[in-house]
Amino acid sequence: MFVPTPPMGYNTWNTFGEEISDSLIRETADAMVDNGLLDAGYKYLVIDDCWSERSRDPATDRLVPDHVKFPYGMKSVADYVHSKGLKFGMYSCDGVRTCADYPGSFGHEFLDARTFAEFGVDFLKYDNCYKPESVPGYMLYRKMGIALENCGREILFSACNWGCDDVHRWIRSTGASMYRSTGDINDNFKSMTEIALSQIDNYCYSAPGCFNDIDMMVAGMFGSGNVARGEVCTLTDYETHFALWCLLGAPLMIGCDVRSMKPEIRDLLTNRELIAINQDIEVRPAYRIDNVWSDKSLVLFRHLSGGEYALGMFNLTDGPHGMYVTTNDVGLDSHSGLALQCRDVISGEEFRPEKDYFRVNDVPAHGCRIFRCRFVKA
Ligand code: GLA
Repeated sequence: MFVPTPPMGYNTWNTFGEEISDSLIRETADAMVDNGLLDAGYKYLVIDDCWSERSRDPATDRLVPDHVKFPYGMKSVADYVHSKGLKFGMYSCDGVRTCADYPGSFGHEFLDARTFAEFGVDFLKYDNCYKPESVPGYMLYRKMGIALENCGREILFSACNWGCDDVHRWIRSTGASMYRSTGDINDNFKSMTEIALSQIDNYCYSAPGCFNDIDMMVAGMFGSGNVARGEVCTLTDYETHFALWCLLGAPLMIGCDVRSMKPEIRDLLTNRELIAINQDIEVRPAYRIDNVWSDKSLVLFRHLSGGEYALGMFNLTDGPHGMYVTTNDVGLDSHSGLALQCRDVISGEEFRPEKDYFRVNDVPAHGCRIFRCRFVKA
């Protein structure tokens, strides 16, 4: 399935883990529409692990939804999700069991793909636990890729092998549209920034059709839910988290409880300027610009379509400080006759064109400034 820009949606795992149910999915679907998430582009509602019975149906060998959690079956859930204008996603695993110890799809790939198609699934997250080591990872993703492409329904293939087996090199060839490149995120600043930093140099492999996925977001969780570890995040932490995912061009999968999200989190996750950067049609990787303050900061620059550019200044330290970028480092020289003009996408502030360097003095601790830029005559 060809996907032109990073997929956007919601996934149950970060907040709910095993605590999923028919009513949770229906209420989440309602909330995604009512909170403007669907309008902003978040169209996939994905049920992660723990949705099935602990064993397959002995008569048919099929995966069966947990009768208590999903008493009306999955087709009924899918129909409801579709009735709200959303797409429906589910989860399985290339091993003999899923990561939370439910039946995996190993040896059942084609049957399971047909089952998902019958449920009305539009998106499959495919994990990597309990995989036989005698089989190379790429074979298992190839197999499910073919099974999904031939199951009679268009299903986005979302691979999740945490960056193992040099996944960047072969995942695009399996038919996957996105692929997890890191271990699991936790709801704290260190985890989210380490995950993002670990993939900056690998975003050159992310392009229309198949995207590097640095995990579902934790923005809005504030220490509640399934992946809370360590210090509870502030709103500033989450602004940096979301801006990083947007600048890098990562898939945007929301992980907080969207039924009770704070208005400021809703506003952040639906920020049209940041989403426009994330969804830029050219899907070019951002690159890092180092300078003497690099130990305290991260500066990312990204070419966008239409002769525009995105610039992100991220202060990863515990105190406020200034940040800058020289125009040389983005490709200008003193004979170019050009200057860099920046507009802060959050405050709207327009800065005067700069020939030599662009500097801001006040990036708060853990905070960021994100700009949309152009080159103008100096
Ligand atoms: C793995 C994945 C997570 C989640 C859990 C479910 O850890 O990386 O994103 O799907 O399994 O058990």
